[in-house]
Amino acid sequence: MIGVFDSGMGGLTAIKQIVKMMPNEDIVYFGDTGRVPYGTRSKDTIIKYACQDVRFLLSKNVDAILIACGTVSANAISVLREQFDVPIFGVVEAAADKAVRVTKNKTVGIIGTNATVKSGAYTSHIKALDQNIKTVSTPCPLFVPLVENGFTDANNEITRLTCEHYLSDIKASGADTLILGCTHYPIIAPVISKVLPCVELVNTGAEAAVRLFEEVKPMGGTGKIEYYVSDDVASFKAAAELFLEMPVGENVFKVDIEKY
Ligand code: DGL
Repeated sequence: MIGVFDSGMGGLTAIKQIVKMMPNEDIVYFGDTGRVPYGTRSKDTIIKYACQDVRFLLSKNVDAILIACGTVSANAISVLREQFDVPIFGVVEAAADKAVRVTKNKTVGIIGTNATVKSGAYTSHIKALDQNIKTVSTPCPLFVPLVENGFTDANNEITRLTCEHYLSDIKASGADTLILGCTHYPIIAPVISKVLPCVELVNTGAEAAVRLFEEVKPMGGTGKIEYYVSDDVASFKAAAELFLEMPVGENVFKVDIEKY
């Protein structure tokens, strides 16, 4: 059984890809909807929250964990790997590898939360693979609230103007590849593409799911997915169906994450 977590709904972009590739895998998803966003918090707080999230998933007896959150992957993965005896996958390595493979003009844009961009994690991974690649990073703190509040339609003018504002440096750099360094961002990919046409977008959650598929042998379940959240179940259900484009059924439960 695979455990997947995010600060909220963004990790569902990884679930979508896991279900496509491993339809029989049992999955437990935790979305920390009561404490989202993580990306505006300090590294210490992100590590504390991430440890609680992992402890919760381990209480469900998962065999491997996917951190479907750019902020946690960029700031806490080494601590989590040190502290917990379970294979832990993040989004940074897989997405950086993909960007290096895809870029033709060796210029890669990176967008993410404040904490992700501050960590420099995507840039370090890219530079370790190819010193000659130029990276341009911009934090986009308004994207997560826009997504969590449903400003996701391809024609949403507020989201388009926000994209214009944040993406101007990346546009000016001529980058041909953009890492959507936060798992919420693929939901507004059509708007981002309007502002950056002809730029290849790297979906971090989906790339991490592909990496998980390559490295973890299918464990053979029944394809059951249980969702746990730290805030209101009903609002998660409604939004999750939008993210996943499939029904989530009755398997959504509330958990008191502070107990873990
Ligand atoms: N999906 C998270 C990430 O990838 C959301 C960010 C947040 O909680 O601020 O970074």
